Amino acid sequence: MSSSPKSRLSEDVLRQKESRYCSHGDTVHYSPAPKFFQGCDGSFLYDRQDQPFLDLQMWYSAVNFGYKNKTIIDAVKAQLDQLPQLACQYLHEEKVLAAEKLAEECARAFGQEGRVQFNVGGAQAIEDSMKLVRNATGKSLFMAFMGGYHGRTLGASEITSSYRYRRRYGHFSNRAHFLPFPYCYRCPYGKTPDSCNYYCVTQVERLFETEYNSFWDAKAEEPEFVALYAEPVQATGGYIVPPSEYFRRVKKILDERKILLVDDEIQMGFFRTGKFWTMEHFGVSPSIVVFGKAMTNGLNPLSGIWAEESLISPQHFPPGSTHSTFSANPLGTAAAWATLQWIDQQQYERRVAEAGAYFLAGLKQLKKRHETIGDVDGLGLALRIEVTHPDRITPNRTLTDRIFEAGLAGALPSSRGPMGLVLDIGGYYKNVFTLAPSLEITKDEIDLGLELLDYLFTSCAEVA
Ligand SMILES: Cc1ncc(COP(=O)(O)O)c(C=O)c1O
Repeated sequence: MSSSPKSRLSEDVLRQKESRYCSHGDTVHYSPAPKFFQGCDGSFLYDRQDQPFLDLQMWYSAVNFGYKNKTIIDAVKAQLDQLPQLACQYLHEEKVLAAEKLAEECARAFGQEGRVQFNVGGAQAIEDSMKLVRNATGKSLFMAFMGGYHGRTLGASEITSSYRYRRRYGHFSNRAHFLPFPYCYRCPYGKTPDSCNYYCVTQVERLFETEYNSFWDAKAEEPEFVALYAEPVQATGGYIVPPSEYFRRVKKILDERKILLVDDEIQMGFFRTGKFWTMEHFGVSPSIVVFGKAMTNGLNPLSGIWAEESLISPQHFPPGSTHSTFSANPLGTAAAWATLQWIDQQQYERRVAEAGAYFLAGLKQLKKRHETIGDVDGLGLALRIEVTHPDRITPNRTLTDRIFEAGLAGALPSSRGPMGLVLDIGGYYKNVFTLAPSLEITKDEIDLGLELLDYLFTSCAEVA
């Protein structure tokens, strides 16, 4: 149970104040009845009545290692006593050790030496990566994927496919050229994986075939677009796992055309899919890796980039090339350093693969029982449930929303008593539950999740 102290104010009073004083411009008011929580532990959140909610999205994968992970929390508490504040122009041990470890993980995974630049917030780290690419190439046009999400700063919005995120603000830079993501369940070319022979890659290749396809100057041997931004598993787009050869084949084209690959691991990094970096599953080496979220287990908005030496060496990215007051803040780097040490002791490669296989097997059973589940899939503990009409393909947003709201309303019957379920909705049609449970989730908790989902798919479909 949560040990959170009870609040002094009633929920009604707080709701009135929130409605009056908090901007509604963030995502809170997507929900008709935004939920208050007051405690958390392990895989559970607790509401103001101390009712447990099994969390299958863990703050969009920012809390990979469990709420209130004691080892990581203790490191932050120790840092609070030792050196809680320090201007970012000075050095402290945790920053250096966290950077070393991240650079080592990139060198191990991608075979390149490089360096790390910290910042705060995923989108800001994306901005830093854009600076590096622009600095190295002198050009500012990027490619990215339809369904991709890289954050909401003005620059990051330009490489995030949804026009909705840009509509109110005009253009800050140049919006990216968006390629279709290899989303095989809904292939953008109407093909099927057994016979397509990577038609999607052929389409990327075609862009550079002649100068008239508008991407390549054959005389100067220069591309107009200088980087491709990719999430190795598309996250907000609906936890879409690309076919195994896709990135390897695309990377070959990028290398031939001198286009950099920027790997956005903000949501999929830190063992979400069973590898330190999700791009490791696909055997390609990006020039830049962007990370955030779970690096501190959600205790601090620390983010960062790693880049190969040729892009980020002091010669190319000299002192003062970027700065933020809170980048490399000592509480953040202490949390990151503790998280990285925690990861080292956990054998997540094996454990996440096992837990993910167990969860996915359960989801496949669930799909058999419910004709409103069109597709289930996953890589490690990044799992997806695509909610459809009984034809198992037409997106069913109404049912998705109903299940989501019923989970958050709580008081669901379960073998552990009344309980809520925290889910997240993604996907191009907002009909996908993107499951990102704690990497510490137990088999019993996975069973509980499957039991709650089974109940919700049954009870919410009956209302239809
Ligand atoms: C893949 C990816 N990139 C970038 C971001 C932006 O990160 P932040 O919300 O910390 O700015 C997110 C956030 O969800 C993300 O999932």
